[in-house]
Amino acid sequence: MTGSPPLRSTAWFGDSADPTGGGLRAFSHRSRMRQLGYLPEEHLGKPVIAVLNPWSDINPCHMHLRERADQVKRGVWQAGGFPLEFPVSTLSETFQKPTPMLYRNLLAMETEELLRSYPVDGAVLMGGCDKTVPALLMGAASAGLPALVVPSGPMLRGHHRGRTLGSGTDLWGYWDEYRAGRIGECEMAQLEGSLARSPGHCMTMGTASTMTAAAEALGMALPGASSIPAVDSGHQRMAAAAGARVVEMVCEQLTPDQIMTREAFEDAAATVLALGGSTNALIHLVAMAGRLGVPLSLDDFDAIGRRVPVLADVRPVGSALMEDFHYAGGLPALLRQLAEVPGALHPDRPTATGKPFGSYYAEAETHDPKVIRTARDPVAGEGGVAVLRGNLAPGGAVVKHLAASPALLTHTGPAVVFDSYQELRRDIDDPSLGITEDSVLVLRGAGPLGGPGMPEYGMLPIPAYLLERGVQDLVRISDARMSGTSYGTCVLHIAPESQVGGPLALVRSGDPITLDVPRRLLRLDVSDEELARRRAAWQPPEPRFRRGYGALYAEHVSQADQGCDFDFLAGPGTDPMPDPS
Ligand code: FES
Ligand code: MG
Repeated sequence: MTGSPPLRSTAWFGDSADPTGGGLRAFSHRSRMRQLGYLPEEHLGKPVIAVLNPWSDINPCHMHLRERADQVKRGVWQAGGFPLEFPVSTLSETFQKPTPMLYRNLLAMETEELLRSYPVDGAVLMGGCDKTVPALLMGAASAGLPALVVPSGPMLRGHHRGRTLGSGTDLWGYWDEYRAGRIGECEMAQLEGSLARSPGHCMTMGTASTMTAAAEALGMALPGASSIPAVDSGHQRMAAAAGARVVEMVCEQLTPDQIMTREAFEDAAATVLALGGSTNALIHLVAMAGRLGVPLSLDDFDAIGRRVPVLADVRPVGSALMEDFHYAGGLPALLRQLAEVPGALHPDRPTATGKPFGSYYAEAETHDPKVIRTARDPVAGEGGVAVLRGNLAPGGAVVKHLAASPALLTHTGPAVVFDSYQELRRDIDDPSLGITEDSVLVLRGAGPLGGPGMPEYGMLPIPAYLLERGVQDLVRISDARMSGTSYGTCVLHIAPESQVGGPLALVRSGDPITLDVPRRLLRLDVSDEELARRRAAWQPPEPRFRRGYGALYAEHVSQADQGCDFDFLAGPGTDPMPDPS
């Protein structure tokens, strides 16, 4: 590529101007490229673009990506690049246990090491299912090569008996109806086939929709890319355009650190909050920022949330689904409304398109003002997430107060403690526990180490006998996460977690607990002396892992407020590339 900086892949293949040069190693690499069936002129001197593909038979959110990679490659070829597809591990939210969160850092490491160890000049990062986009962006940030996300796109709306259905959100609702005896097995069998009916990630504002939108708001995906339904032909065109753009990014040497700045993370946080997005975003964005040395804390989210209104009327906070959101104008339309809030966005910062962020939304139009609201007519006047502190959460805790019951946002009640999710599942319907609508359900042992992997247990079930009486919500607190599609007065991410001796470990059933969201407070109403006595008697639980990846994870993972990254991966900078000669 004349006039462009030297390509990293030249170190493997030799200089295209001297096709016999580069010594024995380069000759050997070129001969293997011939074995792969490529002519010298097809790849020599061209930017090599890795297409990272987390397709798998077990991942319905990525089931279309095998074909979609072909469209990415089409774009790479047309722009004068050379695409190479790399399968990467799949994080399938529904199927992988105990939770794909345990493996987010593994995919981040895989991403970084693939990009470092192969002859690659830039990357397209495909994916959408929950932890996938954070993992890919964390790895790409640490690898330091130009990269662009191709979000996998939401699935189509669910349909059941004339109603539209949203992933997760409606599943939980119908399940509670079933447990309360209000719907039968026949209808549940029908629901099984109608909730999720196309390729693509969850089409509520769950973690997938939240994090793909965050990637776009960071400037790491093309404008409008994140909401395109997975099966829409526009998704194919976006994939081809992304493939073409990343070739240009290589020539411009436009690396992630130039795009994912403090201003970009502030805009991503504001976007997530304006979407009424998943609480998981707080963990992932903190971890992603950490990879670039960008300071970002829970307090930033709380501060941004206080000035940013919720503008997307999408479940679980609102009523529409991602397909509706896309037809209403998608993220560009929402950003244009958000930009009306003074100081909410930074329009002049750089993005992967090579144009300033303001170009993502300057011309955008809203086609359905019920789904994408204006700042004057928001879904809610404040961002959906609050950060709590107090003697029960010295490192912080998170509550999605917009998806909670207003009456419970200020509440004091007696704790009913469960030491594990298994114990909770076994005993929750046992009337002898004496759970009432005043109780505060407490789950511990569900954090980054205790869970392990911090599973999405945070929407603790409500006893069937209370559901039958029409009680729909209780204050529930835990060191777990919660699915972005969940709702209820659920305090999450309590840090430090009980497994490492956080104050949550000291709670006993009957202790009064106070939640005061307006004052951002979570307090255990037990004297310091009594807590000191309990701490002296506390025995750390058995470690969850003795070998393998789990043991590595347990030794190095940080707490929720720090993003749950590994200590040896967090922090800016890239390691030198290997010497391919
Ligand atoms: Fe993949 Fe929800 S299961 S995004
Ligand atoms: Mg989820």
